[in-house]
Amino acid sequence: MDKILRSQQWFGKKGKDGFIYRAWMKNQGIPADEFHGKPVIGICNTWSELTPCNAHFRELAESVKRGVIEAGGLPLEFPVMSLGETLIKPTAMLYRNLVSMDVEESIRANPLDGVVLMCGCDKTTPALVMGACSVDLPAIVVSGGAMLTGKYEGRDIGTSDIWRFSENVRSGIMTEEELNLAEAGMCRSRGHCAVMGTASSMACMVESLGLSLPENAAIPAADSNRKVLAQLSGRRIVEMVKEDLKPSDILTRAAFENAIKVNAAIGGSTNFVIHLLAIAGRVGIPMTIDDFDRFSENIPLIANLQPSGDYFMEDLYYAGGLPAVMKEIERYLDATCLTANGKTLIDNLKLARTLNRTVISSFEEPIKPDSGVAVLKGNLCEAGGIIKPSAADPRLMQHTGIAVVFENIEDYKLRIDDPDLPVDENSVLVLKNVGPKGYPGMPEVGNMGLPKKLLEKGVKDMVRISDGRMSGTGFGTVVLHVSPETAAGGTIALVLDGDQIQLDVPNRTLNLLVAQEELDRRRSLLAQQPNPFSRGYAKLYTDHVEQAHLGADFDFLKGHSGSAVTRDSH
Ligand code: FES
Repeated sequence: MDKILRSQQWFGKKGKDGFIYRAWMKNQGIPADEFHGKPVIGICNTWSELTPCNAHFRELAESVKRGVIEAGGLPLEFPVMSLGETLIKPTAMLYRNLVSMDVEESIRANPLDGVVLMCGCDKTTPALVMGACSVDLPAIVVSGGAMLTGKYEGRDIGTSDIWRFSENVRSGIMTEEELNLAEAGMCRSRGHCAVMGTASSMACMVESLGLSLPENAAIPAADSNRKVLAQLSGRRIVEMVKEDLKPSDILTRAAFENAIKVNAAIGGSTNFVIHLLAIAGRVGIPMTIDDFDRFSENIPLIANLQPSGDYFMEDLYYAGGLPAVMKEIERYLDATCLTANGKTLIDNLKLARTLNRTVISSFEEPIKPDSGVAVLKGNLCEAGGIIKPSAADPRLMQHTGIAVVFENIEDYKLRIDDPDLPVDENSVLVLKNVGPKGYPGMPEVGNMGLPKKLLEKGVKDMVRISDGRMSGTGFGTVVLHVSPETAAGGTIALVLDGDQIQLDVPNRTLNLLVAQEELDRRRSLLAQQPNPFSRGYAKLYTDHVEQAHLGADFDFLKGHSGSAVTRDSH
């Protein structure tokens, strides 16, 4: 006997309650028989004109709806808060957990049997996945796809070039007029950032976890196949409801391990770490930051994409997409993991093939031998810090230098170009108070620009350390997510100008070379900072956000509450 659908707890009711549940829906012109036991599919949409990466999502949702209807379901689109990386102040990350709550409560509170998650710009993917996992109804992700590759003066450009352009303007290599021309050529179509930044890494994450159909990650937003994928996902979610295939069936420990390996092979964003930890926390899969180093081991850089390589998401699609990358590391992936299409990951890879070896290398001849995220430990990051070796200068992987300390981002902006700043290319820039609690919201400022006087000398990279994050499009020898953060009393709070700092990536250490007695003395002088927020979301956030090495989720959002709602108001 077929399982009674969850939505029938609303639409299948008799009497006054059923009348109210159905009658108001009929004002949208929905015929009565639509409520007679069809799977009701929510389309959780992060469309917003303030989130340009997701601005095409209403049109894309129409394709999803077509697929749902074809498969015999009733699609109902609903909005959730959207997070556009480029406009939101002080940082979109501040609101990731808020959106996840919006998603969780919206799904649970409504008569839905399954949900399609429309994800694009960086935080929209983890936020929607986190929320959906905490309800655990059948769910499938449709990513919006990346933009077409940007063009400037006859060459390809993408978001990673912004950092280069900015440094070039500051050092006088590039004029403001040239910068304007680059701006005009950067975003040539709908879609999210065209490099392997956080949005693309998140799209790859959901595909490698098995939460989307194969090919979801790489189809460009402007390609008609993006609409085809959306329509097929609409069809598939109806079947998933019938099969009762839930996120918790897909998101096993092995699936998370696969995702870490794939992120290494693509040179994915450092933000992957914090988001995957948060998602694992919602599903109840025990993971630690050390897993990211452990499971990245042996995985070389296969995808030649900026910022670790040379090409763009559009090129990845033409070269075979994410399945072709996964095929190269198939020997390291768990063959048994189930995916949203009902097949195993390895079944999905049977037809995968590489069409361009310049963009997708072989495992035997990789783009770079080392990839992934290196997890550092030491007295400067007792709970962990991370660095992306594939985007860093190999000459700085073992480096000892004198600290130049900035107390916060405003202090950095004020002094970084001061000609009298005592800094040279061997110095280590340290930025404090940009962690989850301290900023608050852990902004993407960790790849702080170099001092102008060093740029003018031709210096391209320096060791930089902070408790913040870095844009997935960023690069450099940048240690991020230092935990515990400054505001939580981590050792980073104790660093002073002139201290020696030793970074040793091969041995995975980061140490402040100051005697313990001196550190104890400095700690005794640290003043306890009161929470500057007395109300509102910032208060909730600073009271409850966890440290970076735990995923920066709220302590009260760990785990899931299921989909049951036992009371109603009529
Ligand atoms: Fe939206 Fe880069 S700004 S993905």
